[in-house]
Amino acid sequence: MKKLALLFLLSISFYSCKDEKKDNPTPDNICITSDVTYTNTVKPIITKNCVACHGAATPMNLNDVSTLQGIAQNGKLYKVITHADGVSPMPKNQAKLSDCDIEKIKVWIDAGAQNN
Ligand code: HEC
Repeated sequence: MKKLALLFLLSISFYSCKDEKKDNPTPDNICITSDVTYTNTVKPIITKNCVACHGAATPMNLNDVSTLQGIAQNGKLYKVITHADGVSPMPKNQAKLSDCDIEKIKVWIDAGAQNN
């Protein structure tokens, strides 16, 4: 019986936690794109998701900022990460980047794909 009461209390506390989250969205629900830079924002996304295949010893070294700027400016970067028609979807054979990461890369491209 004690166990049952404990279970009941636990489920109430879980429930109230859930409710709280709805009313006060936590920061991980928000995509912050106001302070996007190459160094702090874009580079870590590319390092995590792309350089395993596009590293220094490959034809398209995305560790190299000028190579990345090249595909940003010719439109390929945005096309591949949004899985647009006519290009190979990237990261190849893996899940699409999160909406937030895609949005951050878009902000960087739209601001001129600077090495900042
Ligand atoms: C698992 C390996 C792998 C990963 C991870 C990967 N790529 Fe690729 N990428 C390739 C291969 C292989 C090609 C050559 C085309 C093909 O085989 O689809 C390619 C081609 C490309 C192209 C040229 C596409 C075209 O149609 O002209 C771009 C741009 C590109 N990748 C960008 C990226 C970006 C940006 C990421 C990270 C978000 C990424 N890739 C992650 C393997 C990968």
